[in-house]
This record gives sequence, C-alpha cells and structure tokens, in this order.
Amino acid sequence: MIMKRKLVILGAQWGDEGKGKIVDLLSENYDLAVRYQGGSNAGHTVIANGHKLILHLLPTGILHSHVTGIIAQGMVVDLEVLNQELTDLERKGVSYEGRLFISDRAHVVFPYHKLLDRLFEKHKGIGTTLRGIGPAYMFKFARKGIRLSDFEDEKRLYSLVEENVAFVNDLCEKVFCEKSSLNPEAITEESLRLYRKYKHMVTDASRIISEHGGSILFEGAQGTMLDVDMGTYPFVTSSNSSSLGLSNGTGLSPKFFSDAYFLGVAKAYTTRVGGGPFPTELKGEEGDKLRDIGGEYGSTTGRPRRCGWLDLVALRYAVKVNSLDGLIITKLDVLDSFEEIKVCVAYECEGERIDTFPASYSLLERCKPVYETLPGWLSDTKGAKDPSALPPRAKDYIRFIEDFVGVPVIMLSTGPKREEYLWLKETLHKSVSFS
Ligand code: IMP
Repeated sequence: MIMKRKLVILGAQWGDEGKGKIVDLLSENYDLAVRYQGGSNAGHTVIANGHKLILHLLPTGILHSHVTGIIAQGMVVDLEVLNQELTDLERKGVSYEGRLFISDRAHVVFPYHKLLDRLFEKHKGIGTTLRGIGPAYMFKFARKGIRLSDFEDEKRLYSLVEENVAFVNDLCEKVFCEKSSLNPEAITEESLRLYRKYKHMVTDASRIISEHGGSILFEGAQGTMLDVDMGTYPFVTSSNSSSLGLSNGTGLSPKFFSDAYFLGVAKAYTTRVGGGPFPTELKGEEGDKLRDIGGEYGSTTGRPRRCGWLDLVALRYAVKVNSLDGLIITKLDVLDSFEEIKVCVAYECEGERIDTFPASYSLLERCKPVYETLPGWLSDTKGAKDPSALPPRAKDYIRFIEDFVGVPVIMLSTGPKREEYLWLKETLHKSVSFS
C-alpha cells in the first residue's frame, strides 16, 4: 500500500478515468481528503457494499468515517448540490458532522451562473455539464464573484446578488434576446437559508490543511486534458484540473507539495464527453463496443461518452505536466474481448509526424493518430486481484504503456467494485519504492 503522507490523485486524460473508486480505496490510509478545484461538474462514482454512490461536490474520502473532508478555496460551491449530497449521505446513514469543512474563500455558484451556462451553450457551446461552472469562474476572475465569506454581511450580499442579477438580465435581453425571470431577493434568501444550515463548516480551510499533522489525500477532479491552461482549449473546463491547480486551489505554496506523491489515473483506452479534439476517437463499431462494455455514459449528465483507443501521446504529456510518479490504469477488463488493441504513439498532420501534444486547436483537429497494434489477450481479467492472474499479453500491454510514458503503472482496476483491483509493484516494478 502507498503510505506517503501527502498523496495527489489526478485524472490523466479527459476526466471520467475512474478516480472516484481509486480515491475511495486509497482513503483508507488517509485522514484528510481535499477537493480543491471544479465543482458539481465532477461525478465520482463509488460502488461499496452493493450501493452505487455518485459524489459531485464532496470529497470522495468523506465516505470513510475516519476521514475529514475539505472543500478548498479553488472550488465553486453550489449550495443546492451541497445540500442534496449531504441530505443523501444522511439518508444512507453516513454521518459527516464535525468532519467536513468548506473554505470561506470558495466562490458560490448561483442560479444566474447556470442560466448563463445554458445560454452560452445554446450559442456556440462546447458541451459543458450545464452546472454553471464556467460562468462562476468567469465572475470570480471578473471580480464579480461572491464568496462564502460574503454571506456574513447579509445587507451587502443582497446588493451583490442584485447587481449580478441586473447584469445577467441585461446580458440575457440585449445579447441573447431572452427574457430572464431571475429574482434577486428569492435567490439571496434561498442561498442564505442553505448557508445558515452549513455555516458552522465554513472556515479557513487552508489553515486546516497546512496545520494538519496526519496524512492528506488531494482529490483532483476532471482530467489533465480538460485543464483550462494545459488542456485542449477552448474545449476544457474552467479550472486547473492538472496538478497546476493544487497551489491556488488550496491556498498553499507549491513548496507544500514538494514531498507529495503524484499519481495519475487513466483508463486502458480513452473517453471524453462534450465537444473538442479527440485524435483517437472511434466512431464506428469498435467505439460502440467500448461504450457498451465500459458502460460509458456520463455520471453527471448521462450523456454517451465518446470512446477511442489509448492515446499515449496525450498520456505522456499528462505525465510530464503533472510530474507524475506513477499511473493507475482502470477498466483493463473492458479490453478483454478485443482481438487487437491499438495504441496511439504519435500523430500525423499533412505528412509530418508529431510526437508531442500540440497547443494549437486547429493543428490538433487535423492530427491523425499513428497506431501500433498489440495482440489482445482474449481472456478474462475482470475482478483479477493478483498479478499472477493476468494473461501475459495484458502484462505486455501494461509494460508498453510504462515504457512509452516513462513511469510505472503501480495499480490496475479490473472492475467497478471496490475490491476489484490489484497492485503491480511486486511483479513489474520491484525497484519502485513507495515510502
Ligand atoms: P464544464 O466543466 O461543465 O464547464 O464543462 C466543460 C467541459 O469539461 C465539457 O466538455 C464537459 O463535458 C467536461 N467535463 C466537466 N467535468 C467533467 C468530468 O467530471 N468528467 C468528464 N468531463 C467533464
């Protein structure tokens, strides 16, 4: 088991890599779980004791009674979603009182952000989750945002919401030619009602993290390729979903993370939801097969995910961007019935070979994958719990990934259930030290 005092788990693709299950599993060894970017656009699925739980806003670690959860300052908090998730936890018998804290610097997602998200999507959208995430960050950086600490001064809060609603109403009518029915008083009252319910959790979260003497797990949401700076811009989310988001998302200096262990989670193939470049996308039967076997439908929106072969150029880029120490490969079992498995080892654009992930959207749009074809293992890896149960060709596949991206694959997930995983360090990487 990994026993580093600080562990960072990041998505190494376009999100939906299966981080929820991994974080849930590894939280057993940690006592503080921190989410630090994004908001309820995330959908972290955990299957435990036969129950399926999808957490959007809360850190997944909160499901363990010994873990304290933190919603740090880089997140945008939808109070309605917070209320729904906490009510749902209560109903399932998970008590969270005294072990959940929310940063007073976190910005709040209001109904007018969700309205704007919908309007932006209607006019040349990128396929967002419609959770108001982009507009909430937009307001934050335009210095029109409202933070949880602003809820203390109710009079000021009313006037801030009023100003924002007037601004959004103007946008709706003058730019989008739509009438808006936003009511600033009703919005403020409802937000205040929810805030009062959870006010005792709102605090200086950076301080809790920096003064914590025990172990800390940082839970990244979305994935590196959706990072607002490093991803496939403009088809990205509006936060730094790579390791770049750690420092501003927690309010702690990069030095704080210098002794952390960075693990990336990637599927054995690739998926993405929403629009944007996806060089290895399979539009025909093979893509449908991956979607059917992998159950590739969005956990937040239910949208069918686009599916394709593993893009090692993008994965190697994610390893570099995040300085990953190792990888966890999920959904290996989805490839069990494929006779041949392709991996993208370079791109080709108008006769030129490209070995690194390009920044340019128009170049990426024209990139064709250069594949290497590996033989499938055509046997069952589902539920495998020990490396000795892996077919040799599945091990070859993993070795191919490691050699290409330059870091070890230390764990495989072989099914959706909590217990369906195995560690690889003993068999493939004797030399890798985890403590
Ligand atoms: P937003 O984050 O809702 O603004 O959506 C921006 C892009 O990120 C869209 O392509 C979404 O589908 C994608 N996205 C956002 N959150 C997730 C996630 O948790 N998993 C996968 N894709 C996501």
